[in-house]
Amino acid sequence: MYVLGVETSCDETSVSVVKDGNIVLSNQVLSQIDIHQNYGGVVPEIASREHVKGVTYVFDQAIKKAGIAFKDIDLIAVTKGPGLIGSLLIGINAAKVISMNYNIPIIGVHHISGHIYANYIDHGMNFPLLALVVSGGHTELILMKEHFDFNKLGETQDDAVGEAYDKVARILDLGYPGGPAVDQLAKEGKDSLHFPRPMIHSDDYHFSFSGLKSHVINTHHNMKQRGEDICKEDFARSFQEAVTDVLVEKTIKAKNEFKVKEVIVAGGVAANSGLRQKLNERIKDVPVYFPKMAYCTDNAAMIAAAGYFQYKKHGEYDDLYINGYSRLNL
Ligand code: KG4
Ligand code: ZN
Repeated sequence: MYVLGVETSCDETSVSVVKDGNIVLSNQVLSQIDIHQNYGGVVPEIASREHVKGVTYVFDQAIKKAGIAFKDIDLIAVTKGPGLIGSLLIGINAAKVISMNYNIPIIGVHHISGHIYANYIDHGMNFPLLALVVSGGHTELILMKEHFDFNKLGETQDDAVGEAYDKVARILDLGYPGGPAVDQLAKEGKDSLHFPRPMIHSDDYHFSFSGLKSHVINTHHNMKQRGEDICKEDFARSFQEAVTDVLVEKTIKAKNEFKVKEVIVAGGVAANSGLRQKLNERIKDVPVYFPKMAYCTDNAAMIAAAGYFQYKKHGEYDDLYINGYSRLNL
């Protein structure tokens, strides 16, 4: 079964062809990062316009690279949310045009189910499993007992972990997107600032990162005011150690309670080297899987993979009234 994936929820225009849920024939990604860097973050209006400019080209490239024709596609899977509404609608409308023109069924896919299914592409899935979802907009622990069955155990009560990374990067003048830059600097720093580990021992699976973020900002501000030397590497390392300690501790607690067969990590922050290392060091009794780098950040291959399993589970298509949603429950 050939699935055409379409993802335009934020600042990447991506189209992919995936066969049977895990054979990636093409995964074209047109990134707008260079443009948004000038503004220190994603500007929604500009993102929509850039999607309009690039979307036809990316569709064409994805089909060409896959070596098939539109008429060979069995299903179109498009991200319906959550995300920037203007951006989502560009992908959805482009997908509708192809659906109508070639008479191909279409389904709307939740962006986070895509991040989770990025793991299926290279490792498959062995249930029950625990998914740690860490992206720019989400921080969640999800228990899956079978395909397309998402049981949310806990989530952030305020900022997402990627959001906190981006904010800390801004304080340290590292540009956008901040996560990769903080990750890189952290490798050369020491955990010398002893930042708090919020909710690390709370009796639930929730998270909170806004207090930690404020603590980092205040420490930076106070040191600057006192004229003290600021070692960016140590700031990055101390922040990363605090964040990853909390994520790893809660993941282990859930892994033990629910006796899962594997742990998978999903979303942009799954690319983080400190998180990868700490999870691998601390979890030895079950496998821990991460998507390969190209499938960690936003891409359409993961949406096609999720769409394949969503269809297999529910056997339902959407109609051409399918809409985009800036907020959407998994
Ligand atoms: O999943 P994603 O591409 O978009 C959303 O769905 O939100 O995640 C983007 C987030 C950004 O906050 C970015 O700074 C963060 O993932 N990120 C990282 C790393 N690479 C990307 N955070 C920490 N370390 C990284 N290596
Ligand atoms: Zn994402």
